[in-house]
Amino acid sequence: MESKLRSLFHDPEYYTKSFDCFAALSAKFSELANWGETVFGEAVVDKIKITLGDNEELRVLGVGSGSGEMDVQMLTKLLRRFPLINNRVVEPAMDQLVKYKALAQSKANDLHGVTCDWRQQTIAQYEKAGDSKKFHFISSIHSIYYVGDVDRCMMYLYDRLEPGGVLLVITYSDDSGWWRFRNHFPSFQDSLVTFTNSSLIRGSLERRGIPCTLYHQRSRFEITQCFDEASEEGALLVDFLTHVIKLKETAPAQLYKEVIEYLGSDHCSEKSGDDVLFNNYWDAVVVCKPVD
Ligand SMILES: C[S@@+](CC[C@H](N)C(=O)[O-])C[C@H]1O[C@@H](n2cnc3c(N)ncnc32)[C@H](O)[C@@H]1O
Repeated sequence: MESKLRSLFHDPEYYTKSFDCFAALSAKFSELANWGETVFGEAVVDKIKITLGDNEELRVLGVGSGSGEMDVQMLTKLLRRFPLINNRVVEPAMDQLVKYKALAQSKANDLHGVTCDWRQQTIAQYEKAGDSKKFHFISSIHSIYYVGDVDRCMMYLYDRLEPGGVLLVITYSDDSGWWRFRNHFPSFQDSLVTFTNSSLIRGSLERRGIPCTLYHQRSRFEITQCFDEASEEGALLVDFLTHVIKLKETAPAQLYKEVIEYLGSDHCSEKSGDDVLFNNYWDAVVVCKPVD
């Protein structure tokens, strides 16, 4: 990262603030929810080849589940086939866990049959703790960027799967504005983040002979406010897109100008009338572990 520029990861509160702004403006959760409604059943639930006894629980692991919106949706879908679920959540940010717990409580009726097991840990800390439990379904939704060694983490997660289980990893696509931005400004990479994409994830699996299926999602969200110098929301959104704390105030004026221009260019965005729509293409990578 350029000197003076600080990654969002050095300030978890600021990370959450800018992430919330992005999530609200991008309708992130409703879009993921829509995927959960339409594709998740066929792509994931139907693919779990597990037969459970009467009182046996489906074992689920959420990696970097955040405030849980997507996980809760997936759990409600899983419940239709598996009435008892043990949901282990590995999430390092305490404020996110607090929100997830509140959400789970407010949706208690929908989550009847689910018991939650919260771990305030990074996935590396969880691995180091050495728990040998295996899972029937593991998900990492936009959290694989933060795990350190992505290749290694993918193998660890695959190893945690029961035969017949399913691993779901959602990341940005290699044709997304996110990926193109990172490639264009490599110095914005922080040692705490490994910006990866679905092709790299797929490559990591295929090199080890592990087949996967990719579900491509074309999605855009409006970033017009980023170009309004007076907009506080726009500045927060720029910070989330670049993963830099207060980019406008800390970057040299020329660099800031280049960033804004690149975000608005057709590498990252497209115009619709006066609106600028960011290319938010993402992919779901689904891995099914063969039954022994
Ligand atoms: C972009 S958010 C995604 C949250 C949620 N899965 C969603 O899609 O809304 C990334 C999440 O990964 C968590 N995270 C960061 N580093 C992590 C790590 N090393 N291991 C596991 N989770 C991590 C963050 O705290 C954050 O909640």
